[in-house]
Amino acid sequence: METTGFETELSLFKYDTLERLPPAYRDLSADERTDRIETAKELLGDDVIILGHNYQRREIVEHADFIGDSYELSKRAAEADASYVIFCGVTFMAESADIITDDEQTVILPSMEASCPMAGMAEALQVDAAWAKITEKIPGEEIIPITYMNSYADLKAFCAEQGGLVCTSSNAHKAFEWAFDRGETVLFLPDKHLGENTAHRLGMADSTVEWNPWAPESTDGDVADADVVLWDGYCQVHERFRVEHIEEVRNQHADANVIVHPECRREVVEAADVSGSTSTICSTIENAEPGETWAIGTEIHLTNHLQRWHPNVNVIPLCGDSCMDCNAMRQIDPNYLTWVLEELLEDRERNVISVAPDEAELAQVALDRMLEV
Ligand code: 13P
Ligand code: SF4
Repeated sequence: METTGFETELSLFKYDTLERLPPAYRDLSADERTDRIETAKELLGDDVIILGHNYQRREIVEHADFIGDSYELSKRAAEADASYVIFCGVTFMAESADIITDDEQTVILPSMEASCPMAGMAEALQVDAAWAKITEKIPGEEIIPITYMNSYADLKAFCAEQGGLVCTSSNAHKAFEWAFDRGETVLFLPDKHLGENTAHRLGMADSTVEWNPWAPESTDGDVADADVVLWDGYCQVHERFRVEHIEEVRNQHADANVIVHPECRREVVEAADVSGSTSTICSTIENAEPGETWAIGTEIHLTNHLQRWHPNVNVIPLCGDSCMDCNAMRQIDPNYLTWVLEELLEDRERNVISVAPDEAELAQVALDRMLEV
């Protein structure tokens, strides 16, 4: 099959093979594209699997063969026999799927503009430079880098090379334990909140230091005294939640339970009743008793799905109308999905995510170490 690509002026995104949606696909009506997506799916049959992250909009998840968190989706991709994995999520997730799947399988991200800003906050080159500075400050100490799944393949490869690993929001504490069995210090990238929440969970809250890659000299505290060095990255969607939102919800609903994603600030995670990955949030609501109230601190599309999927549970967004959608996830719109599917019917592959083999091999090592923990 032919792989086509017309490069654009945009170099903002990790992949420079960004392809724009052809004009004919820009104004499809909801009914028309639903019909066309379903028809294309039927014609492509078992050749194609559509995976949808929990944060995708309703018009995407209703076409997905499987909906889940970032890690579950990669596993589903690996287990699938389909030649094409249409990954409705963001770039780093599609990269992980490409690394995990067979060489014969092709991963397609309907829009290359779906780039997670937090993953972009730790570029491998920048991390290389920081690594040199940090290791110089603690000579003779074994530093283990851990990168959150929300990072690009080159950073995962870097972690493998330096004896580190990958983690997700559900196994970060285990990754820390793995690392402290092998070294004295952890460098956690790119999400400082998940890193801090994990350090706190393990009783290390007082021995963290934040590393600002844009102004390393402003690092607040001494790296040499810290057990955990936190890269100064964050997710805008989750940083928005405050303890006051939790207080307000509890004032309005005396019986409210609060669940948040661990990308939220530490004080928010501490004030909540439960914190966990998007799949933990889903299973918590699935297992809630009818009539229970749950306030959710995460991306708004997931909260909306949970309201729809579990009408017997009173699901409310933690900060009301101020809850955000993820701008990166929003780039996957159903017109793009229609287009990539119909192009496959014409034997044309669009927006293929393909990690360079040497990078993929190393990144796989960091992912395999995660599976060991
Ligand atoms: P999950 O791995 O929990 O699905 O989260 C991914 C993500 O991007 C959260 O912001
Ligand atoms: Fe990235 Fe935040 Fe969007 Fe998750 S919600 S993909 S961390 S920007």
